[in-house]
Amino acid sequence: MSNHFRLCARRILLGVTGGIAAYKAAELARLLVRAGAEVQVVMTEAAGAFIGELTFQAITGRPVRQALFDPTHEAAMGHIELARWAELILVVPASADFLARLHAGLADDLLSTLCLASEAPLAVAPAMNQNMWRHPATTANVEALCARGVRVWGPAEGEQACGDQGPGRLLEPAELLARVGELFGRGRLGGRKAVVTAGPTREPLDPVRFLGNRSSGKMGYAVAEALLREGAEVILVSGPVSLAAPPGVRLVPVETALAMREAVLEAVAGADLFVACAAVADYRPREVADHKIKKTEETLQVGLVKNPDILREVAALPDRPFCVGFAAETEALAGQAEAKRQAKGIDMIAANQVGEGEGFEVDDNALLVLWEGGRLELPRQPKTRLAERLVSVIAERMDAQATIEDPR
Ligand code: CTP
Repeated sequence: MSNHFRLCARRILLGVTGGIAAYKAAELARLLVRAGAEVQVVMTEAAGAFIGELTFQAITGRPVRQALFDPTHEAAMGHIELARWAELILVVPASADFLARLHAGLADDLLSTLCLASEAPLAVAPAMNQNMWRHPATTANVEALCARGVRVWGPAEGEQACGDQGPGRLLEPAELLARVGELFGRGRLGGRKAVVTAGPTREPLDPVRFLGNRSSGKMGYAVAEALLREGAEVILVSGPVSLAAPPGVRLVPVETALAMREAVLEAVAGADLFVACAAVADYRPREVADHKIKKTEETLQVGLVKNPDILREVAALPDRPFCVGFAAETEALAGQAEAKRQAKGIDMIAANQVGEGEGFEVDDNALLVLWEGGRLELPRQPKTRLAERLVSVIAERMDAQATIEDPR
């Protein structure tokens, strides 16, 4: 599989420390960007002596970050947000000094602070003079970092900038790119097909009016993107929303519940996973007027009929995919959601408390995820991150189910 597929939309924080090899970090940044990754460069002060910020800015399209407390950035994406943003921190080149500081847990500049504050995997590509590399202090630092789970890539042996021969050369950018690709791997849902519904439905009353709801589609779109990142092929059946479909997702736009049902039933053929995030209207007007309804009467009665339950229908299919539903509850969250999960015959339900400004039209949410014999509480966090956590539970449960079905 090409790296383009693997690194599509991956968020990589590229740390650059001071050393002759810093210029090679620019080539790596270029390769990562070309492979589809989003790259944010963070330079140490010493790196600035070897390479200019503008080089990285031109390559990555993002201003380089260097200061720990920079008022312009703290207001937009502060250092803690940047630590959360990163899916991988990669330090290229990593100087002997930086390795020592990393080992000691120092946090006196932006890059070292990010390394401490982030939960993302950390990889370092050391580059230094061979004597510095062989020094017992460096050896001890590297051993301790490896034991802590830091990936140490390289160094290579060969001729050094200082004229020495030996270990200490930075791995070539292409080799580093390959390692990043391997680290992200194929994704936990590589080769799987997923169908996601999102947004509201619109149930027409007449040619100009409809019954709708406040669903923004944010959760569904975030789930679609998180599935894509895990390597799944994603079909997103969406009601009308003002969001752009994540690049790489196949979007099927629909308006009514009936149209959504039709699109879903077609899309789920051969699918491994169905995630129903849409806020499907429970009822639709019994009749749709051919012409605009005039305000001639004092009162107006609108007859409603029940819409089909798309999720329940998919869950009842003979060769059904792993089915995940959402439940919005105002009270007794766990009990109501579990009852809903069983009534619909689905594998997993993600429940959220609604009312009091939660759930709809907001960027944050909290979820209680329930499945047969298990539960997980995902605390309040941005929907994008929440979706990533949810997708990781889904991948885990799908794997567990596959093992039960095929115990070889
Ligand atoms: N769903 C669906 N088709 C419908 C209605 C709901 O696929 N016609 C899906 C939703 O996408 C969601 C779940 O079913 O995953 C929600 O179930 P529902 O019973 O509608 O829950 P609530 O909206 O919480 O409804 P209730 O008012 O019954 O509590």
